[in-house]
Amino acid sequence: MKADAALRASAALLLAIPPVQAYPTNNHTSALHLNIPSTAAGASIPHTPSFSSFSFEPAFWVEFFGNASTPNELTFRLLNLITEHGGQPIIRPGGITMDSMIFDPSAGDPLRDTSATGGVYRTTVGPAYYESWSNFPNGTKFVSTLDFGNDSLEIARDMAVASVKYQEDLVAYFELGNEPTNYPSSRWSNSTAAYLAEWKNWTAQIDLAVNQTGTELGSARWWASSATTDQSGLNVRPADLIPAGVDSADQVAEYSIHSYPFSTCDPIRAALATTANILNHTGLAQYADEEIYPSAKAALDSGSRWVIGEFNSISCSGNPGVTDTFAQALWVIDSELIYAVRNASSCHLHQGATLVFQSSVQVNSAGNDGTPGYSTYDMVYPTNSSKRGEARVLPSFAGLLFLAEAFATEGTRIQALEAPEGVDGDSFAAYAFYDNDTLSKIALLNLQPYYANSTSDYSASIDISAHMHYRWHGEPQAWVKRLTAPYVNSSNAADVKWAGQTFSNGTASGSVEVENVGRNGVVELRGSEAVLVFFDDKEVTGL
Ligand SMILES: *[C@@H]1O[C@H](CO)[C@@H](O)[C@H](O)[C@H]1NC(C)=O
Ligand SMILES: *[C@@H]1O[C@H](CO)[C@@H](O)[C@H](O)[C@H]1NC(C)=O
Ligand SMILES: *[C@@H]1O[C@H](CO)[C@@H](O)[C@H](O)[C@H]1NC(C)=O
Ligand SMILES: *[C@@H]1O[C@H](CO)[C@@H](O)[C@H](O)[C@H]1NC(C)=O
Ligand SMILES: *[C@@H]1O[C@H](CO)[C@@H](O)[C@H](O)[C@H]1NC(C)=O
Ligand SMILES: *[C@@H]1O[C@H](CO)[C@@H](O)[C@H](O)[C@H]1NC(C)=O
Ligand SMILES: *[C@@H]1O[C@H](CO)[C@@H](O)[C@H](O)[C@H]1NC(C)=O
Ligand SMILES: *[C@@H]1O[C@H](CO)[C@@H](O)[C@H](O)[C@H]1NC(C)=O
Ligand SMILES: *[C@@H]1O[C@H](CO)[C@@H](O)[C@H](O)[C@H]1NC(C)=O
Ligand SMILES: *[C@@H]1O[C@H](CO)[C@@H](O)[C@H](O)[C@H]1NC(C)=O
Ligand SMILES: *[C@@H]1O[C@H](CO)[C@@H](O)[C@H](O)[C@H]1NC(C)=O
Ligand SMILES: *[C@@H]1O[C@H](CO)[C@@H](O)[C@H](O)[C@H]1NC(C)=O
Repeated sequence: MKADAALRASAALLLAIPPVQAYPTNNHTSALHLNIPSTAAGASIPHTPSFSSFSFEPAFWVEFFGNASTPNELTFRLLNLITEHGGQPIIRPGGITMDSMIFDPSAGDPLRDTSATGGVYRTTVGPAYYESWSNFPNGTKFVSTLDFGNDSLEIARDMAVASVKYQEDLVAYFELGNEPTNYPSSRWSNSTAAYLAEWKNWTAQIDLAVNQTGTELGSARWWASSATTDQSGLNVRPADLIPAGVDSADQVAEYSIHSYPFSTCDPIRAALATTANILNHTGLAQYADEEIYPSAKAALDSGSRWVIGEFNSISCSGNPGVTDTFAQALWVIDSELIYAVRNASSCHLHQGATLVFQSSVQVNSAGNDGTPGYSTYDMVYPTNSSKRGEARVLPSFAGLLFLAEAFATEGTRIQALEAPEGVDGDSFAAYAFYDNDTLSKIALLNLQPYYANSTSDYSASIDISAHMHYRWHGEPQAWVKRLTAPYVNSSNAADVKWAGQTFSNGTASGSVEVENVGRNGVVELRGSEAVLVFFDDKEVTGL
């Protein structure tokens, strides 16, 4: 079952070319059958092109985005690529540093006050911060994030009012505080009721002040909870807040919970933050079911949407050698699809830099003189830095193009599929996509880590012939876009290909390659590869 690169290359078509019988018609008796329900019964809620969204640590806003007049071109090229591939990310300028942020009408671009080692005490923003939101791709919406950490209603209220004053059309939601689970426990003495009373009191007063600006925002405008899955003594996940009556005044638009299945915040957890573990589909699904799903279900049962308001693979800025490799691209795809099946409305992938006050025993650190030590789970190192070297795109970025195309059709519903008999469910994941009730795409992920020294390439041949319901020029047909890299630990974005193209400086290089599945209906994937199979040529962009 070795992958035949030559065969695959010959199957690659540049799209204007008429269909040829790319694969030979030999019978792949070894191909594994994938069971795919032919209707969407039991599939997820309808998703939107905003499903794959972002969270950016606001203290590093200028590094990632520049300012209103001089945007960071590299970052914006990446965001524009995502929208060109069908995505429409919602931006949450959120994270730990939103809880020490302040709006000062006389200030300019976001400015950090830091310790000598780079610890962020405070981030001051002026009108220019909100003005820089206009540089984002058309249609981008924002979560207006408010400082709860400084325990000043005035600071939080002034940020809310400033956001609608400068960018009324771009504010979709408000969020008061990041990860209350990790505040000093003296604030609410581990009392859910004390937290909730203050949250409701402030949000009501902020609503009043925002309403006085004449905004058109409706009543349900808040993200609620924003808790982590840490056991800190304060129980404020959505599953805790909903029965406690958080939405008694109809203010909640979406419930937010944060997902970090692994961590380098301390040496014990860092030992588990490995490539093998982040690519264990069983483990990822188990974390989602045990830690996240009870809150998701509470939200859905109450008739509300829920979101992964902030997530990444390995908290405390990732693990060098793991998250800055191709493994992270595969991880982000599987993780978002796991949450799509569980009916999240969006997943906000976190981007930022090491926060030295977060933990004194973490693996990562800031750069020289407290300059940013960009998180190794980021999709891009947005500027040159002493810690990470030249500004550059990371291998995980191409995974976001896969996701942009996967969610490009408004209303797509998703269903998880059983791994075919003969492949290990720990290292293989499959998902079916439906437009209304019609199977439109499948995603196949072969998560088996494949290294230069691997003795097998772990190729799997999957037979989808029974599901090729579309006809093209009279023949059953399907089209494949492939996400691949030489190895799971490839660390250079120039080696990572999505549908034949690389994106290492934020522009597409090379031609789009779309493989034609052909009559035998077999799709082959090497270990550490993912494919998106399209059943309808109208959905295959770049053709
Ligand atoms: C492959 O073999 C199976 C079982 O022997 C047979 O039913 C099927 O028609 C064959 N497919 C092709 C394309 O020859
Ligand atoms: C925006 O950033 C550029 C480049 O760093 C700088 O030269 C310029 O002064 C900044 N503009 C404002 C209004 O702060
Ligand atoms: C918020 O509190 C921190 C200390 O906890 C302080 O360093 C910071 O200056 C305060 N920020 C604002 C905006 O007042
Ligand atoms: C947004 O759309 C307008 C009008 O269609 C266009 O002029 C503008 O260039 C677009 N902006 C971006 C960032 O694409
Ligand atoms: C919020 O709490 C303050 C202080 O306890 C109280 O005076 C005020 O009436 C409360 N406001 C609302 C809207 O609940
Ligand atoms: C703010 O305006 C919304 C929408 O009109 C309304 O439903 C809500 O009750 C108002 N909130 C306050 C505190 O005035
Ligand atoms: C809150 O709970 C945590 C964990 O159980 C405990 O360490 C902490 O002392 C508690 N704080 C208060 C104020 O009770
Ligand atoms: C994957 O994770 C599951 C659940 O934690 C565990 O039982 C299994 O042994 C792991 N598989 C591998 C290959 O590490
Ligand atoms: C997701 O929503 C769909 C449609 O409402 C429902 O049938 C399905 O059971 C939900 N899935 C989960 C895991 O909650
Ligand atoms: C689903 O059906 C509706 C109503 O017929 C139609 O408007 C919509 O375009 C369909 N969606 C897709 C993705 O085909
Ligand atoms: C194979 O290569 C990986 C990555 O360099 C390394 O971690 C591993 O120890 C190697 N395995 C063997 C058996 O040499
Ligand atoms: C990106 O790299 C390609 C060739 O590798 C080059 O043609 C292009 O000009 C570069 N684009 C930018 C914006 O640097």
